Amino acid sequence: MVRIILVITKHFNERVIAPSLLAADFSKIGDEVARAVRAGADWMHLDVMDGHFVDNISFGPAIVHAVDAANDVFLDVHLMISRPDHYLQRFIEAGSDLISVHIEAEHDVAETLRRIRAAGRQAGLALNPATPLSAVQPYFDQIDLLLCMTVVPGFGGQSFMPEVLEKIAAAAALRSQGNHSFHIEVDGGIDASNAGSCYHAGANVMVAGSSTFRAPDMAAAIHSIRNA
Ligand code: DX5
Ligand code: ZN
Repeated sequence: MVRIILVITKHFNERVIAPSLLAADFSKIGDEVARAVRAGADWMHLDVMDGHFVDNISFGPAIVHAVDAANDVFLDVHLMISRPDHYLQRFIEAGSDLISVHIEAEHDVAETLRRIRAAGRQAGLALNPATPLSAVQPYFDQIDLLLCMTVVPGFGGQSFMPEVLEKIAAAAALRSQGNHSFHIEVDGGIDASNAGSCYHAGANVMVAGSSTFRAPDMAAAIHSIRNA
């Protein structure tokens, strides 16, 4: 029993760096993913936007499938779409390893999370900076990852919102009180100047777009986020 608890604790203390493809050069996506993996990326974060849930359109299942076919890297797919339930099967078939859906989207959240796990994939639940933690708490037993947005979703390159740190700390406290086991991921404006605070608040998965893909030395950027 003690050993299992130690293993779980260690798991969520381990930092995972997930560069966001949104900041890559879209004219050579395969090369960009390979560059991120060579630079030390643990996961690739793929931001799917439908122009409705957020005010931007990025890419869909075809790109997820292309990245999956070209690489063995773990695919962390973030669905910023209004009807994740409607498109879910396509993202499962495209090769997503983890799929995060938003609590603010229009769907039966418990049922969508159940379907993700039933397909043998990991289930993530995302919440916007303005959404209280109480909205996601009922699903803590059904998730492998809680995605705390640290910007208002829609665009890369925005500034980190430090007020979200409190919510991350509260999520980590509720996780240990309830013996739940899920990663806490931060997404938006993450770089070496704030990754340390996020980690100390309880987040272990760091999504970073601009600060990795647009850095002069991507390996050094990933290293500094990991050690911040
Ligand atoms: C925001 C996206 C983020 C974003 C991260 O809507 O969910 O994943 O691309 O990019 P940076 O690190 O540039 O804020
Ligand atoms: Zn994202």
